[in-house]
Amino acid sequence: MTMRSEDRLLVRALRREPLPRPPVWLMRQAGRYLPEYRAVRQKAGGFLEMMRNPDHASEVTLQPVRRYGMDAAILFSDILVPLEAMGMKLVFDEHGPSFPEPVRSRAMVDALADVDPDETMGFVGEALRKTRRGLPEETALIGFCGAPFTLAAYAIEGGGTKSFAATRAMMYRDESTFRSLMDKLAGVVARHLRYQVVHGAEAVVLFDTWAGTLAREDYLRYAAPWARAVLQELAGVAPRVLFIHGGDHLLDEAVKSGVEAVALDWRTPIGKAFDRYGDRVALQGNLDPAVLLSSPDEVARRTRALLDEVGGRPGHVLNLGHGIFKETDPESVGAFVRTALERQR
Ligand code: CP3
Repeated sequence: MTMRSEDRLLVRALRREPLPRPPVWLMRQAGRYLPEYRAVRQKAGGFLEMMRNPDHASEVTLQPVRRYGMDAAILFSDILVPLEAMGMKLVFDEHGPSFPEPVRSRAMVDALADVDPDETMGFVGEALRKTRRGLPEETALIGFCGAPFTLAAYAIEGGGTKSFAATRAMMYRDESTFRSLMDKLAGVVARHLRYQVVHGAEAVVLFDTWAGTLAREDYLRYAAPWARAVLQELAGVAPRVLFIHGGDHLLDEAVKSGVEAVALDWRTPIGKAFDRYGDRVALQGNLDPAVLLSSPDEVARRTRALLDEVGGRPGHVLNLGHGIFKETDPESVGAFVRTALERQR
């Protein structure tokens, strides 16, 4: 008999059921720290090529599960895929992803296509279906999307930034253009998440990575309404996880958004977060990814300390507080995952 999605450990933890041990997965678990990932990337000819090819995308999604046996796979793709589908030219080089023609005007917002994921991102659905067929029964499959604010910031900046000057200039100087960009993105993001659930995603992560750069008042005005609109569209469709990097000051708002789980970055003390929010949401996290640069023994020690801090409270999904570094020794990932798998209450 095939296992039902709701019986998988990750999904049960997101429902805050008491469990013998917490499920574990890692943000960016399919990535450059794995030699087998680098081999596929080389064969594919690059990151974007790998992502658009469902055979390659599902292969690298399965690699970490095969090696470590974590409880969930997250589809190998990127939050920037929908922006590309909306018509933005995406470039990936040694500096990472960038958009050479950033969105800076009303006309450019209007020119963005209001896409249907089935038509423009078909490789994502195909990669999800292939991945599900290759996964062990007990392993959950996670879909994701960038949140409207984070995608808007990428679209407006064109690439990574520390100041977000262009984004903030549009927010403060031309709020109606900013809002129309956010409206358009929210529609695409909600459709893309639904589409992933239709094609096999059993939980979804909304990455509002850059929203943590906003003060609470600005977050409430310029980011939260659209993240909430997206999350509301997914209510009852699949369990929802919200991640805000550097979002400790926004945790009350994140919890209030109605999600099943909030992903903590490593700076939030997870025990205190459980004291405060554990009766309302599941909490994911939150080992500092830099700890994986130490030694397998130290990783195991720090992971046990984290699990002790949570103390077996229901609703814990063990993860890192942000994506794994490419410099990480695969042995340290092994130590992290094993520590969780061996834990029995
Ligand atoms: O977690 C996973 O394994 C699933 C796949 C995934 C990737 N990116 C693959 C990837 C996910 C969920 C993302 C999300 C993502 N992408 C975010 C939000 C989460 C976060 O990290 O805060 C953001 C901001 C991006 C944008 C992005 N993509 C950046 C800034 C970079 C370059 C930095 C880096 O890590 O190289 C990417 C590239 C990228 N996305 C890689 C991977 C595995 C590296 C590609 C490579 O060089 O092979």
